[in-house]
Amino acid sequence: MADNDLVAVGTVPERLDDPVAVRRALRTTGAVVVPGPGSAPDPMTALVRSVLGDEIRSIGDHVPVRAAGGRDRPDLDADGHTLTTPLHSDGFSLAEGAPDVLVLGCVHPAADGGGASFLVDLDAVVGRLAAGDDADRELATFLLDTDVDQTEPGRPTVIGPIGRRLDGDRTAWTRSIFLQPAPDDPDPARTRRLLDRWEGLLADLTDRLPRFHLGAGDALVVDNTRLLHGRDPYEDRDRLLWRLWVWTDRAVRPDTAYAVSDASMLDLG
Ligand SMILES: [Fe+2]
Repeated sequence: MADNDLVAVGTVPERLDDPVAVRRALRTTGAVVVPGPGSAPDPMTALVRSVLGDEIRSIGDHVPVRAAGGRDRPDLDADGHTLTTPLHSDGFSLAEGAPDVLVLGCVHPAADGGGASFLVDLDAVVGRLAAGDDADRELATFLLDTDVDQTEPGRPTVIGPIGRRLDGDRTAWTRSIFLQPAPDDPDPARTRRLLDRWEGLLADLTDRLPRFHLGAGDALVVDNTRLLHGRDPYEDRDRLLWRLWVWTDRAVRPDTAYAVSDASMLDLG
């Protein structure tokens, strides 16, 4: 992807505090930073209620985010902070039950200046692919039309397209970091090739997307069906964020709204 495209697909959120403006920006750009409420769960919940109001189906209980979020990835506790968190959507192991809004409140930013955040707008990325050459168009179609296995090891099976078309011309994107051809895929070699291209594109974007820092008290509000997020490595083990998952009427399955913000806290059978 060319450098000028990066500016269009990499989202650096506006800083806003009026709830109406926050909601508008969430709908138009997919992400906003609200200064102030991010230091504690209660003000973050109040922010969500003031911005999303009657659309809310559930606000998951807050969880602390250090090297990883909640207890989802205990394997990252030891040295996950020294690794780049790859672009992903939250709750991908919940499949269509994933939250449609993610809120990250910054309690303590990394004192070493690391841990910068980055976001990418998949509507914009795939829009560019769809207007590209034959190989790009093949990838754009594949993302919407091919069921792939997105299952996280040890969690329930998730098989479906990476982009799910919804009513109203919306697409809900998921980015599981575990992708492989589905068991009944008629052409697994082709799927593997296209998944490799997709993961290569996301890795390239991870290296080159614009960065921004969350300061103490900042609350980052993200459309988790449209934007992927990640962060840079850091050294300061005191870095701490709070995470809230929010399900609104715009979730893929609004009726599957959980009360937690951590998939490891759910018994999905
Ligand atoms: Fe995340």
